[in-house]
Amino acid sequence: MPKSMYDEIFEPIEIGKVNVKNRAIFPPISTNFGKEDGHLSELFIRHYETRARGGVGLLIVENSCVSYPEGKHGAYEPRIDSWEFFNDWQKFAKRLKNYDSAISVELTHEGWKKRGVDFLSDEKIREIIESYGTAAEIACKAGFDMVEVQGAHGLLVNQFLSPLTNTREDSWGERTKFAIEIRKEIAKRCGWDFPVTIRLAVDDFLDGGITLEEGKRIADVLQDYYQMIQADIGLGPKELRLEPMPFQQAWRAYLAEKIRPLKVPVAAVGMIREPEVAVEIVRNKADMIVLGRTLIADPEWLIKVREGRVNEIRKCIGCSECIKARHDEDTRIRCGVNPQVGREIEIRRASARRRVVIVGGGPAGLEAARISAMRGHEVHLFYDEFGGALNLAKIPPGKEKIQWLIDYYRAELEKYGIEMHDKKALKGDVESLEPDVVILATGSKPFLPCPPLRNFVYLFDEVLRGDVKFEGKKIVVGGGGLVGCETANMLAESNEVIIVEMLPELAMGMETLSRRVLLRELEEKNVAMLTGTKIVDVGRREIIVERDGEQMLVEADALIAAFGSKPYIPFRIEGVPNYIIGDASSVRNIYSATKEGFEVAMRI
Ligand SMILES: Cc1cc2nc3c(=O)[nH]c(=O)nc-3n(C[C@H](O)[C@H](O)[C@H](O)COP(=O)(O)O)c2cc1C
Ligand code: SF4
Repeated sequence: MPKSMYDEIFEPIEIGKVNVKNRAIFPPISTNFGKEDGHLSELFIRHYETRARGGVGLLIVENSCVSYPEGKHGAYEPRIDSWEFFNDWQKFAKRLKNYDSAISVELTHEGWKKRGVDFLSDEKIREIIESYGTAAEIACKAGFDMVEVQGAHGLLVNQFLSPLTNTREDSWGERTKFAIEIRKEIAKRCGWDFPVTIRLAVDDFLDGGITLEEGKRIADVLQDYYQMIQADIGLGPKELRLEPMPFQQAWRAYLAEKIRPLKVPVAAVGMIREPEVAVEIVRNKADMIVLGRTLIADPEWLIKVREGRVNEIRKCIGCSECIKARHDEDTRIRCGVNPQVGREIEIRRASARRRVVIVGGGPAGLEAARISAMRGHEVHLFYDEFGGALNLAKIPPGKEKIQWLIDYYRAELEKYGIEMHDKKALKGDVESLEPDVVILATGSKPFLPCPPLRNFVYLFDEVLRGDVKFEGKKIVVGGGGLVGCETANMLAESNEVIIVEMLPELAMGMETLSRRVLLRELEEKNVAMLTGTKIVDVGRREIIVERDGEQMLVEADALIAAFGSKPYIPFRIEGVPNYIIGDASSVRNIYSATKEGFEVAMRI
């Protein structure tokens, strides 16, 4: 194969005695695909098989419980604390051996983040260390190539490492001792040549916690025991390690760079999405790269990079739907851009080729077109703007990554020879094609519950598109849902902004960490937030609001209506099945749109 600019990603590397075929790691990502009793499920295995098939060098199974129930971390966390689970792990390893990814499993004990480790007796600590040994022995005998100790994210090993949670005065106050003793226990059970890696908190990002200087010293010590170190984050804010969309790609790769050089490979973690970024890290900052959500969104990322098909990559846009599922709801993960997550089903050709006419070029219509075409149908797609509502969603500050999804669909749909109709569809246009099936993915229209006063009341989409511009004005944004907050965030760059929201809180329903980051940004931009407040009257330059039964006059230069949107269905076609999907069915988000696009196309 000719040399490509990404070749360094595909160079093999040794982790202890194990030869790993390339520099990419699929890190532990809790799926909640396991069973409630800690056993593995078929879906669980398939999810990992898909990522191994995609060519990842090292695949690390999500956090698995070494000590049940006290160390349990998540509703469906797999258990590796007892031989009762050995057959599950053996079956998993056997299935994964059909691919040539090295396999590992993350050994996790949640610990007691609020209490720290000072209260643990010596005997108890020894018991926990033994549980890591048992877990590693199960993995080793089941056929795993190595195991990983979870030593970051504020979990137990991190609690021993951090001065904030470990102020013991006995020998365990030597904060690396716990991690070292775990390693020795694993060696006792599995031999020193069975590699053990560690996900290491090299910076707690918290006052009084592990600093990067200390993280470097810890890594220097642990390199004598562990065969690879992932430079990760400790006890600090969760949004730094599950970063929402606005974070810069690979912003924390410097953590890996700063703990190098070590005699063992070091991996960089966090928001590595584009191959250009990944290869630059492998060249200059780390020996390996972690591709977490990157491979959730597109398990074939490595294949596409290797084959020079980088424009076909479906990049993780950071919508946090997976995090919402795992951390807010503790349910099965799902992905905003990859509807196969949680299904892992084969996309078979349809039994009969049909003429499918899709109206609407937003994520629902585009996904429906992609899957319909893959299944062999004749597909016609009408759109007045390719990407639909994604074109609005990508505009507010920090939302630029949404453009990646538009680019992906453009490349995909070109590949499948879909008939593109770059125009607003009229009923007659659709009818004249004599479709067998019609999919209406026509999206939504903003909703205006107050009088449309000219030169005073504007719709949020006019503002986002830049049809109307403000500078140095006082602006009220009516409605503090996600769209209202994001519109306010954009306006606040050069205006004084007040959000008025009827509900008690802003951006309700949004994933917790993304919401925290957005609200913090609004605060930093001095946006006034009137919650539990409703707009009762709108006059020119004056808005009357009411809170707790009391009315107040707010003077402003403009009112931006962000009260939500309503499904928009311009027509239906008689005599053939009409499927209504995405926001046209009910106004929601990217995840619901791609999901419904996928599902409808799998049915026809
Ligand atoms: C839904 C979800 C679940 C995760 N579960 C785990 C886990 O079980 N153990 C762990 O160490 N990290 C977990 N992580 C963190 C990831 O391994 C990874 O470090 C993080 O997502 C940043 O990398 P990325 O931007 O490539 O996804 C999880 C992340 C997500 C999004
Ligand atoms: S759900 Fe969103 S954040 Fe999670 S992997 Fe998919 S695109 Fe990325």
